[in-house]
Amino acid sequence: MANDSAIGIHDLSLATTEFVLPHTVLAEYNGTDVGKYHVGIGQRSMSVPAADEDIVTMGAAAAAPIIARHGGDGIRTIIFATESSIDQAKSAGIYVHSLLGLPAATRVVELKQACYAATAALQFAIGLVRRDPAQRVLVIASDVSRYDVDSPGEATQGAAAVAMLVGTDPALVRVEDPSGVFTADVMDFWRPNYRETALVDGQESIGAYLLAVEGSWKDYTEQGGRSLEEFAAFCYHQPFTKMAYKAHRQLLNYCGHDIDEERITRHLGLTTAYNNVIGNSYTASVYLALAALLDQADDLTGRAVGFLSYGSGSVAEFFAGTVAPGYREHLRTAANREAIDRRKEVGHARYRELHGHSFPPDGGDHLVPAETTGPFRLAALRGHKRVYEAR
Ligand code: COA
Repeated sequence: MANDSAIGIHDLSLATTEFVLPHTVLAEYNGTDVGKYHVGIGQRSMSVPAADEDIVTMGAAAAAPIIARHGGDGIRTIIFATESSIDQAKSAGIYVHSLLGLPAATRVVELKQACYAATAALQFAIGLVRRDPAQRVLVIASDVSRYDVDSPGEATQGAAAVAMLVGTDPALVRVEDPSGVFTADVMDFWRPNYRETALVDGQESIGAYLLAVEGSWKDYTEQGGRSLEEFAAFCYHQPFTKMAYKAHRQLLNYCGHDIDEERITRHLGLTTAYNNVIGNSYTASVYLALAALLDQADDLTGRAVGFLSYGSGSVAEFFAGTVAPGYREHLRTAANREAIDRRKEVGHARYRELHGHSFPPDGGDHLVPAETTGPFRLAALRGHKRVYEAR
């Protein structure tokens, strides 16, 4: 099943926010038994952006170490995947391109299909590299997940970015053909242009996700994919980490396998470590699962990992990757842990303030208070333009 010419993920780096809200604080505020959060949905805390952080600052922070390690040469395309876009026309990737000082001879584009778009970006990147193997593509997935306060979705909020360098002879994961794909027109989660927060029918979205697992797996097998037994682990999109378990049980059922909880934990357990303290990072979530797996697992060299990417609305894709020999020397485990551990805890009142923060849509000059200690910040809005700066 391996590709003749291996193309895949050569480097992967993540970034998240300045602040974090523990679910114990949310539970204490709203009177929920914290077991519902810790056990029921599998979440312990959520990343909360400072007022001067957004998808651009997180995306640039995730990508900067990749450029520092490999340089910008050969990167002729940046694909920025997000569903929390900051502009209806201009790609957020252009701000990142500018902040990182990348060459003018680059194409930059933004992709959207809810939480699925980063997987589309990865697959499109592979197509570009197959066409010209000397090229490398920078894929950035960056999102702020925001639901109404006091809604069921509130406990599943989060924010993070993952940057991936895609090229030939990848140091981390060789992405295989084929892919299984699935689309269904459902209204399980959406965000009309006039809203800051998403609308979601939680139970509908769980059902739509589970149907998409079956649909994309069915197509994957029909395209000649691997059998279930061949996989060492599965990285699922994790809107909340318990969802990965629901999805995997669905897949086992669909394939006529027994539900062996110990085996399920072996396949999924390590993939939830970053998502359960960051929260839903939409497009980045499935690749945070990969980072957590690679950072913690015993040697996975040559082993197959299954990826199930789901984006409400809905589109899903199942594909496989093989872990590359020597991958451990290229991991960013310490930096990944530091990005998570450096976050400062906020209380409920401060979280509410940050959640409610928005800029007046008047085109006036608005300075943004300096809060983030990350490498990039949103400094101001000036004449309807967002002004970013390196710190
Ligand atoms: N201890 C342990 N578990 C508990 C509990 C407690 N005290 N109280 C509740 N639970 C469990 C429930 O049994 C349930 O588990 P189950 O799904 O395995 O049955 C789980 O916690 C969630 O409880 P539920 O009552 O369904 O929560 P909710 O109505 O608040 O909604 C979501 C949960 C996920 C639907 C909601 O957070 C949401 O809408 N999220 C955003 C959308 C989303 O993430 N969709 C996923 C697909 S993309």
